[in-house]
Amino acid sequence: MTSMTRLLTGTAAVLFLTLPAVAAEYRIAVGDGAGGTQEALGKAFVAALEEQSGGKMNGKLFVNGQLGDEQDTVTAAATGTLDFSILAINNITPFSPSVGTLTLPYVILSQEDAEKVTQGDVGQQMIEQTIEDAGVRIIGWGYSGFRVLTNSKKPVSTVADLQGLVIRVPKNEIMIETYKSWGISPTPMAWGETFAALQQKVVDGQDNPFMTVYAMKFDEVQKYITDLHYLFSIEPLIVSEALFTSLSDEEQAQVLAAGEAATKASSEFLRAEEAKIKEELVSRGMEITEPADDEQEFMKLATEAVWPQFYDQIGGKEVLDNVLTSLGREPA
Ligand code: MLT
Repeated sequence: MTSMTRLLTGTAAVLFLTLPAVAAEYRIAVGDGAGGTQEALGKAFVAALEEQSGGKMNGKLFVNGQLGDEQDTVTAAATGTLDFSILAINNITPFSPSVGTLTLPYVILSQEDAEKVTQGDVGQQMIEQTIEDAGVRIIGWGYSGFRVLTNSKKPVSTVADLQGLVIRVPKNEIMIETYKSWGISPTPMAWGETFAALQQKVVDGQDNPFMTVYAMKFDEVQKYITDLHYLFSIEPLIVSEALFTSLSDEEQAQVLAAGEAATKASSEFLRAEEAKIKEELVSRGMEITEPADDEQEFMKLATEAVWPQFYDQIGGKEVLDNVLTSLGREPA
């Protein structure tokens, strides 16, 4: 062995011994653009995951549906071709009807309700059911606020005002039926196609939280907002169950702890940012209208027509009653 070979062999050995193990970098799909709840939840998760795992696990966010439309990311995670995804709960319901309880109109009436339901026993049951039905595990909950109605044509304050508008909804039966209860037949459409459809006036409007309207720059293509409260948008962080179960017990605990930290950060983010974002949208020229009569007409029509239609799908009326009573309300 020449002295040069000896030197190189020695250097390689030192390098081998001192190089840190390569960190696993997971791909995290984010349905919305930057600046909203989903990205904030994702950033908090990545930071907590790195901290929890001492740098051995890391994550990279792909915002704006770069890794696929929200519903498609559920399938991708279930089949193991995607690691994590952050998406609106209404885009999980088609794969796991039990979480539909959280997309029934006027069930969640405040951020506190959303936190209580998702972080309590009901949320735990939904996590288990979603693993079984959809092959994905909810490990964190994002809170985005109520889905407000936007449109490009006119202020809407009553159900009568809504007539004649073409409104995009997610491909979610409960939301489709909710608009039908208000007398219009909405247009189901994938999230990724929504901005272009609003821009090209294929549809007049859509609903999503203030945070999402802002993150998606809908103010560029929409003028009027109706401050509805029919659906509080919960935005889960999901992991492929195949990936999760391939991790060691210690890594699983780190992932779960990071998810919990992200949930907490999401609650704080919404409380700190929503009012500012609402003002920002107004300063960009959007007009906010309150629903007439304290929203009673919207609420009565939707709850009476929609809740009973979905009792079977969500696993029985008792599933809804359980959620309502856990929130201190009367059963349906
Ligand atoms: C949808 O409208 O499809 C979703 O709520 C979009 C989102 O995740 O923000």
